Amino acid sequence: MKILAGPASIELGKKIANELNLSLINLENKLFTDGETYLQIDGEVENEEVMIVQNTFPNQEKRLIEIMLIASTLKEFEASKVYLFAPYLCYARADRRRIAKEIISHKVTLELLYKSGVDSVLTFNVHNREAFTSLVPELEKYDISILPEIRDYLKDIVDENFVIVGPDRGITNELQYFSDELTIPFNSLDKFRDPETHEITMTDTGLDIEDKNVILLDDVITSGGTAIDACKLILSRKPKSLFFLVIHAIAKPDVFVKIKEIGVDKVISTNTITRSDIEQIEISSAASKFIKDKFL
Ligand code: R5P
Repeated sequence: MKILAGPASIELGKKIANELNLSLINLENKLFTDGETYLQIDGEVENEEVMIVQNTFPNQEKRLIEIMLIASTLKEFEASKVYLFAPYLCYARADRRRIAKEIISHKVTLELLYKSGVDSVLTFNVHNREAFTSLVPELEKYDISILPEIRDYLKDIVDENFVIVGPDRGITNELQYFSDELTIPFNSLDKFRDPETHEITMTDTGLDIEDKNVILLDDVITSGGTAIDACKLILSRKPKSLFFLVIHAIAKPDVFVKIKEIGVDKVISTNTITRSDIEQIEISSAASKFIKDKFL
């Protein structure tokens, strides 16, 4: 297997190639004056398996197009198999049709990747594992769990005074995992998002967190509405401390400023999306390990 680092993930691609001792295919990459991407693959790909490493946030549409351009050209020059490793997979949240003719972006995106030449997609903690694995069955897919790396980070911090809490029941499996692995209790709030106004109502389900160290866990933060409402509710129950831990940190920097301003002691995410304004848990070695165990 060879690694091809896409324009969005040059450092990550190099890191994975180094960690796995794989050769890196050079990619000439520049921007035309209209903002479109020029790409040229510089290296042998015939009969080679190639792993494109390219994240799909920010600039989702541009990043997807670049992947499709690269995958299509790899296939044109007879690469034997094309993988995509995108630490965060965009367009995965519209995974079912709620109203007539609503576009299931997750399905269409997977179809487009497949039709452009991608044979296999690897990502971390996709929004809905069931939808990801069942949609577009001709495309091979791997949803890699980053929870063991988060557990290793947390085990140096937590003691018996910690509780892990989710903002809604959608994160119950992850809460259960950390509860079992770290021997701490878990609980979740009840979240209702009005389908028309998108307004969130957060309710308590009997939290016992006074004087406890609380970790609020979510899979993703975008507008920050969920996290902010959940943090406010938790803080009103007078915990000793509150950490906000999120897997995919998509929100704009001012959202994290606000979260800290309302009294959250620490914000942590993984670097499926790299940023410098919060503490991050490294994902590259988990990706390399998965690739090695599965494909090498
Ligand atoms: C919802 O089911 C997810 O787990 C997140 O809580 C949600 O997508 C976060 O979005 P926002 O930051 O816009 O509230």
